[in-house]
Amino acid sequence: GHVLVLAGGLSYEREVSLRSGRRVSEGLQGAGVSVETRDTDASLVPSMLANPPDAVFVTLHGGAGEDGAIRSVLELLSIPYVGADPDACRVAFDKPTAKTVVRSVGLRTPDSVTLPKETFHDLGASAVLTRIVERLGLPLFVKPSRGGSALGASIVRVAEELPAAMVGCFAYGDTALIERCIKGVEISVSVIDLGEGPVALPPVEIVPDDGTYDYAARYTAGHTEFFAPARLSPEVSAACSEMAVTAHTALGLRDISRTDLIVDEDGLPHFLEVNVAPGMTETSLFPMAAEAAGEDFGTLCRVLLEQAAA
Ligand code: DAL
Ligand code: MG
Repeated sequence: GHVLVLAGGLSYEREVSLRSGRRVSEGLQGAGVSVETRDTDASLVPSMLANPPDAVFVTLHGGAGEDGAIRSVLELLSIPYVGADPDACRVAFDKPTAKTVVRSVGLRTPDSVTLPKETFHDLGASAVLTRIVERLGLPLFVKPSRGGSALGASIVRVAEELPAAMVGCFAYGDTALIERCIKGVEISVSVIDLGEGPVALPPVEIVPDDGTYDYAARYTAGHTEFFAPARLSPEVSAACSEMAVTAHTALGLRDISRTDLIVDEDGLPHFLEVNVAPGMTETSLFPMAAEAAGEDFGTLCRVLLEQAAA
């Protein structure tokens, strides 16, 4: 048998996905697994039917990789895969919907407004934006409601910056999530379930060189300083871990996820988003957290695949 790593795809995060796929493949090879890596194109389904893999590791980010589409195809072909099912992905990948779900189970998440592009134009952009600033205050964080890797995301410190931030956001998606910006420390908590329920890996603290964890800061080695484990008190660290596990469970996720959050100046965590196909690149947080836990990344990937295939 063999396992398949899916990487590439047609989303804006294609390059990131190719790097994630490479890292997972190399890890699996190191763990003695026979692995094939494939992109998503018209030959994928025929080839999976002709030579079905034991299980698939989806390292496709954004779009079909995270909105449930590719997993629906795998379900249709009865091919097991690591990670959440299509319905859970659909809910989790949509940031405003995910926020609503986690808020309903008591998690703190910043106040926000969700604005589809059409509404925005129909209602007269400037009047709407003025109202949003009045309601949420400043600074604000603007991002596509279904995106990743900070593409189309920006911080708005003065009201005059909001229109340009909206345009930048709509370049990457049809709906904007405008969120109150919480001042504090950026923390990311990876969750893994090796058959005994979801467990948090050590929280990772993110300190970007120029203060903004944008695309370049994410994927250029040396642009961001990481602390794994994060420099948090045991109590705050536990609260972050609990938030990630609660989000994973409330959203009905499976196997792996990664929750990004902010710890405010009082030490309280605020949920930002959850990733159903967390980045696995050389500078990504999930592999860093695994290493901080003393786990071999390739072995973890192998166990996840074995579990899916079982
Ligand atoms: N969306 C990227 C891959 C991440 O969250 O790691
Ligand atoms: Mg994300």
